Amino acid sequence: GLTPNWFIEDEAMHIIEEMRKNIKGKVLLAVSGGVDSLTTALMLQKAIGGENLYLIHVNTGLLRENESERVLEILKKLGFTNVHYVDASKLFLERLRGVTDPEEKRRIIAKTFAEVFKDKALQLSHTVGGFKYLAQGTIYPDRVESGATGKATAKIKSHHNVVMEAIPGLELVEPLAEFYKDEVRRIAEILGLPEELVKQHPFPGPGLAVRVLGEVTEEKLKILRKATMIVEEEFRKAGLYEKVWQAFPVLLPVKSVGVKGDVRSYEYVLALRVVESEDAMTASFVKLPWDFLEKLAERLVNEVDGVNRVLYDITHKPPATIEFE
Ligand code: XMP
Repeated sequence: GLTPNWFIEDEAMHIIEEMRKNIKGKVLLAVSGGVDSLTTALMLQKAIGGENLYLIHVNTGLLRENESERVLEILKKLGFTNVHYVDASKLFLERLRGVTDPEEKRRIIAKTFAEVFKDKALQLSHTVGGFKYLAQGTIYPDRVESGATGKATAKIKSHHNVVMEAIPGLELVEPLAEFYKDEVRRIAEILGLPEELVKQHPFPGPGLAVRVLGEVTEEKLKILRKATMIVEEEFRKAGLYEKVWQAFPVLLPVKSVGVKGDVRSYEYVLALRVVESEDAMTASFVKLPWDFLEKLAERLVNEVDGVNRVLYDITHKPPATIEFE
């Protein structure tokens, strides 16, 4: 970005100072483990300390391999003490059964997330005394793309982190609401978030559900989790991870014919999405070296059961979006 570092630092410190002055009571925050929620948590920790800060991590069952375990470990390392974990993966999968429409899937996930979060909040509230604030890691582009800025921007997708505004009775705290992603990363760095977490790619709130096109099933999630692990690993190994905005596989809801070990196979097709971007509002597909793509595709069809073909997405945003749903 063009904004100088000192300006971002000044703004962030100002917001922390304001929170220190104004927040009088317990704060709840849902933490996914992404840069936005972790930075929000760190800003609050700096502003009010750990005692009145309550973090909830919800496992939606739509996360990547071992993701919840990793998030809980990180929070511990960062010194957060009031961390609460909810495993709601069964509930999410049940609710998504048979649902194929992308916005319907997003609505169900948002609604289920809010419900699970509220239940936990209520339960916590009984044991620790009432909460006064709900903090969220919403950043500026989330609000623009969800049509929540009051500007004349058409809603593109219902981003689930914005829907959390629905919890009544709690005052909303959104310290990152005016920042772009690169600015959030700079704030994260200033606040001492480890580099690999600062530089992690964005991951959508609805998780792998928007990358399993059509109906989400455990079988398909399993395939996509394995594929996602391989893609992230190969990008890291090749030193390409930090050079791109996002890189991920998408499971298409079709099977195609192939041949594995001289035998006919009829298996799923993966699409690879790799983009460069400044703020996710627009994006370009990355012109990766053929031999890197070749090796990656080879690993995917060899190591992921149920996949026999890999396609590369060569569309920009617009007209395509970064995610497929
Ligand atoms: P699209 O697909 O709209 O994505 O081009 C733009 C950026 O937003 C991420 N994304 C989400 N992030 N909640 C989020 O926090 C969501 O519901 C959501 N949907 C998409 C996407 O990965 C990309 O970085």
